[in-house]
Amino acid sequence: FQPKIRLGILASGNGSNFEYIIKSIKNKQLNAEISILIVNNPNCLAINKAIKYDIPYVIINHRNCNSRLEHDILVKKKLEELSVELVVMAGWMRIVGDEIINRFNNRLINIHPSLLPSFKGVDAIQQAIDKRVKITGCSVHYVQKEVDSGSIIIQAAVPLEEQDSKETLRKRIQDMEHIILPIAIAKVAKKIRTSFMGNK
Ligand code: GRF
Repeated sequence: FQPKIRLGILASGNGSNFEYIIKSIKNKQLNAEISILIVNNPNCLAINKAIKYDIPYVIINHRNCNSRLEHDILVKKKLEELSVELVVMAGWMRIVGDEIINRFNNRLINIHPSLLPSFKGVDAIQQAIDKRVKITGCSVHYVQKEVDSGSIIIQAAVPLEEQDSKETLRKRIQDMEHIILPIAIAKVAKKIRTSFMGNK
């Protein structure tokens, strides 16, 4: 028997990855519980999913903060308050600073819509289209100070077809994200549990 890992999810957008995390917990693929969804944007659709599935959420609006550090500290405090063990950035459209990165060393992961280290940063899907690559994909990686560059946990490849539009490609990449993110969470959770036991 392994106790459920306590997750904190950070999201800014539609929350489709958030929803797939919930689904994989429900179907027992993932031995976890979501302690909190934190959003930085009050209009973010992920909130509707939290309501739908009865998951606690909080809006920490960066526009009400004077600095990135102030926002990071509020986010960190909330995660600590709930004893979150693993933080998942599932479409979190903000750069996190040292305050969070150091506190959640090896416990902070992100999903990015490219095969890293290719196409870091914003609009990775458009970057792949512009370069006319034949294969792109998605990556789950640990978060480090330098954006989209921590070590990679899992990746999936997605072919770019001649007839693809940005939207069709995005859809196929997202379908793969929904598969690999819960797998990555399970993998990291296992690591956290093992190292915890090793420290005892
Ligand atoms: C995903 O494509 C992810 O790779 C990127 O933001 C998007 C979030 O989508 N970082 P959603 O909010 O989970 O639907």
